[in-house]
Amino acid sequence: MDIRTIATQPFNDQKPGTSGLRQTVPTFQKPNYLENFIQSIFDSQDNYQGKRLVLGGDGRYYNRTAIQTILKMAAANGVGRVLVGQGGILSTPAASCLIRKYQAFGGIILSASHNPGGPEGDFGVKFNTANGSPAPAEVTETIFAKSKAIQEYQILDADDVNIDQLGEYQLGEMTVEVVDPVADYADLMASIFDFDAIRKLLASGFSMVMDSLHAVTGPYAKEILENRLNAPAGTVRNSEPLEDFGGGHPDPNLVYARELVETMYGDNPPDFGAASDGDGDRNMILGRHFFVTPSDSLAILAANADLVPAYAKGITGVARSMPTSQAVDRVAKQLGIDCYETPTGWKFFGNLLDAGRVTLCGEESFGTGSNHVREKDGLWAILFWLNIIAKRGQSVEEIVKEHWQTYGRTYYSRHDYEGVDKSSATKLMDNLRSGLSDLPGKQFRGYEVTLADDFSYTDPIDGTTAEKQGIRIVFKDGSRIVFRLSGTGTHGATLRAYLERYEPNQDQQNQNPQTALADLIQIADEIAQIKTFTGRDEPSVIT
Ligand code: G1P
Ligand code: ZN
Repeated sequence: MDIRTIATQPFNDQKPGTSGLRQTVPTFQKPNYLENFIQSIFDSQDNYQGKRLVLGGDGRYYNRTAIQTILKMAAANGVGRVLVGQGGILSTPAASCLIRKYQAFGGIILSASHNPGGPEGDFGVKFNTANGSPAPAEVTETIFAKSKAIQEYQILDADDVNIDQLGEYQLGEMTVEVVDPVADYADLMASIFDFDAIRKLLASGFSMVMDSLHAVTGPYAKEILENRLNAPAGTVRNSEPLEDFGGGHPDPNLVYARELVETMYGDNPPDFGAASDGDGDRNMILGRHFFVTPSDSLAILAANADLVPAYAKGITGVARSMPTSQAVDRVAKQLGIDCYETPTGWKFFGNLLDAGRVTLCGEESFGTGSNHVREKDGLWAILFWLNIIAKRGQSVEEIVKEHWQTYGRTYYSRHDYEGVDKSSATKLMDNLRSGLSDLPGKQFRGYEVTLADDFSYTDPIDGTTAEKQGIRIVFKDGSRIVFRLSGTGTHGATLRAYLERYEPNQDQQNQNPQTALADLIQIADEIAQIKTFTGRDEPSVIT
């Protein structure tokens, strides 16, 4: 066995963000760049020698190259067995499922989620711990510290492994097991939802389309929807994962999933439309001419959880990220269960899920999930909706509108200013921060500020704190404006402004959200001076 020790020098930009290390492909292709980060991951772990590791990615450009490197480094670092998805494919939730099911010490997931791929696109590396959850801050900080001090890495000098063929291979003393990326995950879904009811729904003339956006969910959706649930062939569109996602932006929202949106808002649309992102953890839900806001979706799943076999006995609690709307809070109150508010990013849900404090959790950014894995899960959310529709016998629109009648409607929108100059964005945030203490008591267009702070969070399980997690401005009627900078972008800075207003009156619940939120949109600009600092008249993406 030929283990090589390669001398290297640290890079200073390997700090994991909201969701792992994300950089452009050319950055990852720099000599030793990937190797340094992978070695730093191993160096952050204790006692993993001889144990299992899960490995796979969303199939984007550089996935296959990176997998071969990581396999050889895992072998050189003493990993016992690597479970790698066939073809190098594993969706983020499927990787989480495998880590848990096969008691791996962790998993390495190669993805830049919804960011575009290809030779000039983005690439990313995420590390998940033994519970299947994205590494918590203490681990990512250790990885970052190791990456700043690294002097050498270990790699086995060996031929590439044939990752396209199922089976076991030997790489030095390590076993590589090429596994079916779909089977275990599909079994897990079948154990959660009422597949018989969904099968009946799909056989009854109910029509649906799922757009996989040429990203990782294609094979998963085909197996689950078309093979196991008997949806007609062709239900899953753009089902073949492509290295550049067909040139698209694999983000399931009204802007980037245009083809699906045109179908669902066109003549004679199907009853149900859904999409997922690059690595399969996000979801978008549409009815005929109808869009379900992710924050509402979380609230509706919580309110209807008793219709799903796995949650029929009740949910223990719910959690949402701070910028996510308070729609789910109202459901929790009615159910008499706890509702936790966490910083942005899935890693903050892990402890709450592990401790059994919450069953469902979600984010406004098209992410919902439960205690079945430790990641958000796109297909899971889509199946949850199908399960609800099958049991309630109502359309998507009817379900949502009935929810608003019961709980009130929470108008919600996120305005993104992408690719803004980094220093201008930082100045905007600093300026906001310095004025926070003056805001309470002030009136803006009839809205009185009752709270203005920079959100900080203390984890109720391990007591760790996270500070500066976004600026919250809360008004007397519960309306909110939140500002934060993205932690996942790779070009300049992205400013996100989140707007929310509660409307209990039924006859006021059918406005366009941008109209319903018009005053708050103006107030956001007044308080943060968005136009002045960014030089932009309009957001680049509105969701
Ligand atoms: C974005 C979303 C966040 C999500 C993350 C990973 O992060 O806003 O909710 O967890 O992507 O999918 P951001 O770019 O805002 O830091
Ligand atoms: Zn994703």
